[in-house]
Amino acid sequence: MSQPLPLAPRLPLADGATIPQLGYGLYKVPTRDAARLSLDAIALGYRHLDTAAFYGNEREVGEAVRAAPVPREELFITSKVWKDDNGYDSTLRAFDASMERLGLEQLDLFLIHWPVPSTDLYVDTWRALIRVRDEGRVRSIGEANFHAHHIERIVGETGVAPVVNQVELHPWLPQQELREFDAARGIRTEAWSPLARGRVLHEPSLVRLAAKHGRSPAQVVLRWHIELGNIVIPKTSSLDRQRENLDVFGFALDHDDRAVIAALESGARTGRDPDDD
Ligand SMILES: NC(=O)c1ccc[n+]([C@@H]2O[C@H](COP(=O)([O-])OP(=O)(O)OC[C@H]3O[C@@H](n4cnc5c(N)ncnc54)[C@H](OP(=O)(O)O)[C@@H]3O)[C@@H](O)[C@H]2O)c1
Repeated sequence: MSQPLPLAPRLPLADGATIPQLGYGLYKVPTRDAARLSLDAIALGYRHLDTAAFYGNEREVGEAVRAAPVPREELFITSKVWKDDNGYDSTLRAFDASMERLGLEQLDLFLIHWPVPSTDLYVDTWRALIRVRDEGRVRSIGEANFHAHHIERIVGETGVAPVVNQVELHPWLPQQELREFDAARGIRTEAWSPLARGRVLHEPSLVRLAAKHGRSPAQVVLRWHIELGNIVIPKTSSLDRQRENLDVFGFALDHDDRAVIAALESGARTGRDPDDD
């Protein structure tokens, strides 16, 4: 096993918990590889794993957490309720099923995966998350794929704000307005597809920036996220890339670099617009 890297810093959440700023994302990590890759990530220095009922690998993530040579309280585990289970009772059932698969006493963060405005169930879903948090079965609650108006609605109807808003965010879609909205309300913005599923890494200006720093394009993009204050959860099925993606705390971007990355904004999404569901 290769040498571990320095740990990512932990950022405070509005509810008093802390979250490692860089984690390992497990979407499309095949079930058969998920336990091994989670353990590899932990051995390298990752302390944050992002799974979901939809990813089909919660059981393997739980196995890795139990097998890891790291105390449970140092690890931060996120899961999510899938959109088919939005609604109060169905979310409570989905949470129980996730916890059974994970085999954990307490989850660190549980998220609504998508608001699905067409079914209008996300406020009820949010009430269920508040309940499992109040019962102590999850430490922190938040949502994914919410626009500002969805957040305003759940806060308006329940008085409880999410501590994390996990959204698609990368150089093509920097989400500045939403990041400012979140920051003004003490909500941490977490970037999913932080590398735009790897597609943004071929941009010639990023390749040049990477050469300037003697780093890879992925490291430059992840460093940009870190300096913006985003939480990031890059996915890879390669051990070398797991190492590369965590090794972003030993260099810094300058004003010109930030201007190069800002020029890449196109509004392009790799996933759906949350309002279209
Ligand atoms: N809440 C949501 O709705 C939502 C939606 C999507 C994702 N997520 C979360 O966010 C995580 C990350 O998003 P994502 O998996 O969609 O995309 P991503 O992390 O932006 O990109 C992953 C892709 O980039 C490649 N890659 C990773 N590191 C690389 C490197 N250093 N150099 C070159 N290529 C690299 C990977 O290929 P290899 O595997 O071949 O290395 C993979 O194809 C997910 O795993 C999941 O946990 C959440």
